[in-house]
Amino acid sequence: MADDPKKAVLELAGTKVEMPVKSGTIGPDVVDITKLYAQTGAFTFDPGFTSTAACESKITYIDGDEGVLLYRGYPIEQLAEHGDFLETCYLLYYGELPTPSQRKEFDKNITYHTMVHEQMTRFYQGFRRDAHPMAVMVAVVGAMSAFYHDSTDINDARQREIACHRMIAKLPTIAAMAYKYHIGQPFVYPQNSLSYAANFLRMCFAVPCEEYVVNPILARAMDRIFILHADHEQNASTSTVRLAGSSGANPFACIAAGIACLWGPAHGGANEAALEMLQQIGDPAKVPEFIAKVKDKTSHIRLMGFGHRVYKNYDPRAKIMQKTAHEVLTELGIKDDPLLEVARELEKAALSDQYFIERKLYPNVDFYSGIILRALGFPTSMFTVLFALARTVGWISQWKEMIEDPGQKIGRPRQLYTGSPKRDYVPLTMRGK
Ligand code: ACO
Repeated sequence: MADDPKKAVLELAGTKVEMPVKSGTIGPDVVDITKLYAQTGAFTFDPGFTSTAACESKITYIDGDEGVLLYRGYPIEQLAEHGDFLETCYLLYYGELPTPSQRKEFDKNITYHTMVHEQMTRFYQGFRRDAHPMAVMVAVVGAMSAFYHDSTDINDARQREIACHRMIAKLPTIAAMAYKYHIGQPFVYPQNSLSYAANFLRMCFAVPCEEYVVNPILARAMDRIFILHADHEQNASTSTVRLAGSSGANPFACIAAGIACLWGPAHGGANEAALEMLQQIGDPAKVPEFIAKVKDKTSHIRLMGFGHRVYKNYDPRAKIMQKTAHEVLTELGIKDDPLLEVARELEKAALSDQYFIERKLYPNVDFYSGIILRALGFPTSMFTVLFALARTVGWISQWKEMIEDPGQKIGRPRQLYTGSPKRDYVPLTMRGK
């Protein structure tokens, strides 16, 4: 780095290049390398983006060393304790907590967009019943662009806003329908008098032959899970949404791309994988054996729900999840959940083991979420769907921020080419046997 703290100097093949250093409000500075190629003919190389800031953003801040997560400056703990999901949605999308009248208007907008086009219900019937609900989500959310043409003009701010309201409002309906279709039960229409989370639980668990009364403690837990998953700055799925959107694709298609990325077990699919892992271990007494397998690199087994690209400390969301798991199990009268015992034992063993200490591996948001979701009645195949539902507001807020950025360009990474240099075509008859 140069003496001037706001400049970095790179020396490449005898040429010195000065690059500006930009500072955010908090967090690490960034070296602005946008002119590097023009000045030196070289690219930077950072597979996995471990040292690359791909955009400027005002939405979410993470301090991975301290275990801090802020949405628009507000600590996640305060939002989870005192706020609710719809307020969090408003905050993420518009940038400020709503006033009472803004809140009323927003709730109304969301509530009156919860039904989906009736023809969409027939779309589900094209899927096999045993289709993974995430496969259904990718397809149905992508198909929203075929149903809601009047909110696909990305250059119209009002259409962007309507697309946002539609997705926040309809994702629970679409997710609940994926679940109902999967288990062979009739779809349950949304109920406008219920809260966002309570309505979702009802659409998932009510059946036409019985009255369904939503347990407020469970609805609160569901709402909190949504808050905790609402955004997480430039993670893989959010970056996917931004990249898809950078070409001018419509918002529904971009969110479908985000859902596809989220599905992977290294990202949103980890909650499903974490619960399956706890089930396979099954008994706290087997934890040492499992930890030994994880540490043996030849086994290729990872402790799912542990480790994070950014958090090198306890994920603040995991702490809230652990507390919520306790509340839900108590409410449901589940005194000794063997999976919770396995999880606690695993956490204890890992946090005192050199392998995990040296690599700064701590529980992430997915370590305890599966225990809560299972207690609420969701099968593991729905876990990532719930994550997608909650993350939709983060994706759409990040997408909007990108579209409204005057300096926005199509995302187009470069590469270090290691394939064959130029060579001449060889006719088939001259290529040996
Ligand atoms: N179990 C065992 N070892 C691990 C784990 C884990 N869960 N996570 C990382 N490590 C080890 C790696 O083997 C590596 O060891 P090495 O230095 O000896 O090679 C070291 O820790 C660094 O790991 P990387 O994979 O390089 O770290 P990266 O930042 O690329 O990966 C990730 C982060 C993908 C989250 C990883 O920790 C992981 O696979 N965790 C399990 C899956 C999971 O829970 N994902 C959810 C993430 S949160 C979310 O998306 C909602």
